[in-house]
Amino acid sequence: MKALVLAGGSGTRLRPLTHSSAKQLVPVANKPVLFYGLESIAEAGITEVGLIVNPEAQEIRAAVGDGERFSLNVTYLVQEAPLGLAHAVRVARDFLGDDDFVMYLGDNFVVSGITDLVDAFRAERPDAGILLTKVSDPTAFGVAELNTEGHVVALEEKPAHPRSDLALVGVYLFTPAVHEAVAAITPSARGELEITDALQWLIDHGRTVRSTHITGYWKDTGNASDMLEVNRSVLDTLAARVEGTVDAASELIGPVVVEAGAMVIRSRVEGPVAIGAGTVVQDSRIGPHTSIGPACTVADSSIRYSIVLNNARIEGAGPLCSCLIGRYATVAPAATAPHCLILGDHSEVWLSP
Ligand code: TTP
Repeated sequence: MKALVLAGGSGTRLRPLTHSSAKQLVPVANKPVLFYGLESIAEAGITEVGLIVNPEAQEIRAAVGDGERFSLNVTYLVQEAPLGLAHAVRVARDFLGDDDFVMYLGDNFVVSGITDLVDAFRAERPDAGILLTKVSDPTAFGVAELNTEGHVVALEEKPAHPRSDLALVGVYLFTPAVHEAVAAITPSARGELEITDALQWLIDHGRTVRSTHITGYWKDTGNASDMLEVNRSVLDTLAARVEGTVDAASELIGPVVVEAGAMVIRSRVEGPVAIGAGTVVQDSRIGPHTSIGPACTVADSSIRYSIVLNNARIEGAGPLCSCLIGRYATVAPAATAPHCLILGDHSEVWLSP
């Protein structure tokens, strides 16, 4: 069995971060979200991974390399444009050959891993397997309709009038039967080859599509609030570890990770909090539920429930809450009114009145 991991796409919902970086590399508890998926795949006993990337995805190649650090053998598959999940399967046709495969969306987060799912699929081998979870707003997802026996009878992508509240989680299992389906379908109204259409094609042609309800926590990290929520849930599992320095005037409460070379000076850090290597936190209050990436400066500030990427500088700012702060960003007060802001395209700033 192989894995097809999708790390292309346009990531419009995570702009401006995705103007300069792939959304799959946004860190959750200071580790790229994509890495959690790759680890789950390795745990499930799969070694051959095809990684779908955009043509300009040098950063993903630099981060993942040949996959050896995950005990995986990664082959890069370039998708010229984000033309849909089923299009990605077409791009991977030669790589996948006649093997069964798990398709994993690189921005999805499945806490319980995929080992049980993969084992069950291997044992039963339906034509395809999907994972479902109840959601409050199904219009934002692929939605499945089940009959009274619990078999999948219909699937629809982001329906205006959903026929159930069961959304597709971004992990799919396929036999080679899917290739006939993705070759047969045509682009949807939004111009994408939809995987839901390919699954519907299989159902309409008498193939079995088995569904499993996910029990553990799952999240699509497509937008900032989901990203912050995933960060929060992963930080909740953090074990305290201090490899950097914490001065006597500072207080660490609860699970706090201070990576090597990081310094905490005259500050109060309320865990769970992760502080990246080489970061300096000074005269500040951090946490709870905050991860600060490597090589950042946080001084005279207060920040909680946030993600700060590497090399950011936060000085004299706060209280900050629910923030997603990009690499090399600066947050600092203006010496006098009016405020001076230099913001990238699609940035968002909320100022108090
Ligand atoms: P989506 O989140 O559905 O799409 P997107 O990345 O274009 O994001 P947005 O809606 O914010 O513009 O994609 C799910 C995952 O699949 C994500 O990791 C990107 C990846 N993907 C591809 O690799 N190729 C594609 O053609 C598409 C549509 C997505």
